[in-house]
Amino acid sequence: MIRSFPPGFVWGSATASYQIEGAVHEDGRGPSIWDTFSHTPGKTQDGDTGDIACDHYHRMPQDVALMGELGLAAYRFSIAWPRIVPTGSGAVNQKGIDFYSRLVDELLDNGIAPVATLYHWDLPQPLEDDGGWTNRATAERFAEYASAVGAALGDRVQTFTTLNEPWCSAYLGYAAGVHAPGRTSNADSLAAVHHLNLAHGLAVSALRAVVPDTVQMSVTLNLQNVRGLKDSDGDAVRHAEGLANRVFLDPMLRGSYPADILDDLRHITDWAFIRDGDTELINQPLDALGINYYFPSLITAATPELRAQIPAPGDPHATDGPALCPGTDLVLTMPQSGPYTAMGWPMEPASLTELLTGVHAAYPGIPLMITENGAAFDDVVSADGAVHDANRIEYLNGHLGAVLDAIDAGVDLRGYFVWSLMDNFEWAYGYSKRFGVVRVDYPTGDRVVKDSARWYADVIKRNGLQG
Ligand code: FCB
Repeated sequence: MIRSFPPGFVWGSATASYQIEGAVHEDGRGPSIWDTFSHTPGKTQDGDTGDIACDHYHRMPQDVALMGELGLAAYRFSIAWPRIVPTGSGAVNQKGIDFYSRLVDELLDNGIAPVATLYHWDLPQPLEDDGGWTNRATAERFAEYASAVGAALGDRVQTFTTLNEPWCSAYLGYAAGVHAPGRTSNADSLAAVHHLNLAHGLAVSALRAVVPDTVQMSVTLNLQNVRGLKDSDGDAVRHAEGLANRVFLDPMLRGSYPADILDDLRHITDWAFIRDGDTELINQPLDALGINYYFPSLITAATPELRAQIPAPGDPHATDGPALCPGTDLVLTMPQSGPYTAMGWPMEPASLTELLTGVHAAYPGIPLMITENGAAFDDVVSADGAVHDANRIEYLNGHLGAVLDAIDAGVDLRGYFVWSLMDNFEWAYGYSKRFGVVRVDYPTGDRVVKDSARWYADVIKRNGLQG
């Protein structure tokens, strides 16, 4: 039996500039916070950096051809801000524009719709030196950059996504310190949340002013399906969910901040950075909401006893004990049972259905897209040179089934982008975690199509899962 997806369902894959491009010094690109962070000893596994990454900057046409062979209808990539505006403000670097223009043309020639994300975490370093996302001016610079990209590519890009996972930019970058720029202040992370929201709203306005009306506007959030450890955790769940999801969704889609979260965190910040009129600027009409999903969240109310068990400044992805929930001191994240991916992330497809039905019910009327979903495993290259990644196929099959369950339940879900097209620089984990449906042999740069990519191509071809 085949379980079919709706006609016109968009099948894609996703990547991000710093994770795949390399060529960090080429054609006028300036440094980003990830160059600085990855070159700081101790910040990434084995000291890995994105200096070369997948060398996609030089192999772009072959990579696009590969996507064509897999039958992808869309490709979600990100544009490196420091290639377009090398110091974050001022003149536009034409060579940076040219690279993405060639990419867009190559995609269109292969029948693949370009979905361009403007910010997948590579903030120009000079802007961080001026305060980064804690500085309101960064949002204004972002709108200028968005306008330059829109003017150059808006005639051909089908969808623009302003931000990828502002949750990670704000909380992992400014509170947990495990992502660039590596700061560890809850107050700073909350200012970053607001300025990222503002950047989103200003960028949508700036783009709309320069691109044709038919171009779609979206944002990608890593929304969390939050569960409590104990029955008594209801209020902790409200808080954790508000901090993870509603602080982004409410201003973007409803034009207001959640009052409960503002009240909960007045001991951390006075929120004075939210100025009159800001929520109206943030609340721009959107054509789609992108959701990145990997695993469910388990939290509990923070108690002194649990806090004492936290070994070190928290990586919220740690699974071996309670961990700090960045941005707040009111809840802790808790270990969950397996099975796990190589990231230590629990695999539970039904949680994705819960998340999607919940978002659709709370924010009706906006079409949803899964803009990332996938899994890292410790892939093995077999004697025949192939990668028989049955575990990844099982993960993807389960999660696509969960997507279908959500669609059956009435969720307006338009597409799915697998993370990732190819193995790449997995941020603080460096090259140790492989998420690709295509393997990258880093010493040579060779691409090897894994079994999961062939399986995905079959799913795309029949627009359905084999049941
Ligand atoms: C998401 C990021 C993406 C990748 C995946 C595994 O949080 O958007 O770049 O690292 O996780």
